[in-house]
Formats: sequence, structure tokens, C-alpha cells
Amino acid sequence: MKFFIDSADVKEIETAAALGIADGVTTNPTLLAKVPGTPEEIYRSICNIIDGPVCAEAVSLDADDIVAEGMNLAKIHDNIVIKIPATKDGLMAVNTLEKEGIKTNVTLIFSPMQALLAAKAGASFVCPFVGRLDDAGHVGMELIEQILQIYENYGFTTEIIVASIRSILHVQNAALIGAHIATIPLSVVEKLVKHPLTDAGIQSFLKDWDKVQDR
Ligand code: G3P
Repeated sequence: MKFFIDSADVKEIETAAALGIADGVTTNPTLLAKVPGTPEEIYRSICNIIDGPVCAEAVSLDADDIVAEGMNLAKIHDNIVIKIPATKDGLMAVNTLEKEGIKTNVTLIFSPMQALLAAKAGASFVCPFVGRLDDAGHVGMELIEQILQIYENYGFTTEIIVASIRSILHVQNAALIGAHIATIPLSVVEKLVKHPLTDAGIQSFLKDWDKVQDR
């Protein structure tokens, strides 16, 4: 299973890289708005840290404009993947960009049929948003199971990035059902390693180690 870091914060991405768990990065305009610097500066810095896909979102709505924006973003670095919302124009742009050899990630996916169309259009990745589905009273992880089943039925190679991850269980369930990738905020990555019994165990070992030193 691959982990992407869902962040535009260079310090967070450096921490994830130091942990050895970051296979790629996803960003979006909301994440960019939280940190200083122009989008291009941020993408360049991230590409210098991570040797893997770095998703940069196109904000145009018209297919031709998305393609033009995607072509420009792709010039920043070979690892840039163009994140494009799941709309009709978006899928047209995906089809064009992938034929030009530029990788795309169809984002804001909330239904299995959006994911099927994205795969048929040639997307390299899809981003179904589990947390936002949970927020709306659905079970987000069911969408991941359905997309995995559909892709397996027809041999699509589009990789599923489980996005809008909010909890340890989101990551655990994504792993259990075999999602290809989870894109995870660093705050959740840090929770994955924590366990109170580990902390208590360390304290008790340190106490006993002191006793051994007195011998
Ligand atoms: O990768 C998409 C993600 O950033 C959205 O997360 O928590 O805003 O739903 P959230």
C-alpha cells in the first residue's frame, strides 16, 4: 500500500519523508491557502523532497482551459500529476492530457460511476473522498469497495487514492480492503504510530533499566 501525504506544508512533507512513508503528495487549493508561497514555489519545493507523484490541482472549469493549465503545471517537474475535478469538461481534459503523456488524478469523486468514467477516460488516479461522504451520512469506505470491485471486474489500472481521510480507522479500513493508496494528513500519520501501551511500556522499561544501573 502506498501512502501519499495530503498537505502543501513543506515542513510536514519533510517530516513524512524522514519517516520513510511518503510515496507521493496530494495538494488542493484549500491546503495551498494554509501555507505561504506561490503554488508554483510550493510544488517545486515538494518535488525536491518527494520522489513520487505530486498532485497539483487545475482550477479551470472549461476543458480547453484545464488542458492549458495542466500543460503549464506539468512543466514544473516530471512528477507533477494534474488533479482535475470529476466533471464532463474535466474528463475531456483527462483524456487529452493522458494522451499527451501527462498523468491525471480525477478528484472530488463521490460515486462509483464517476470513478468508472474517470478510468475509461484514462485517468492514472482517482480520489474518492471518504470523510466528506461520512459527513453527509454515507459510509465512505463502501465507495472504495465498489470502485475496487468495478476496476477489478474490467482490469482497469487506474489507482485508487482514498482521500478526505480523517482517522486511523479510515487508513486501517482502506488497507484491509486493498485500496492502492491512502492520502493522509500528517496529523493522522502521527496518530497511526501512537499507542498508550507503547508509551506505558517505554516508561516501565526505563524505570527497570535504572534499577539495573545500580548493580
Ligand atoms: O485529498 C482531499 C482532501 O484534502 C480533502 O480532505 O478533510 O477537506 O475532506 P477534507
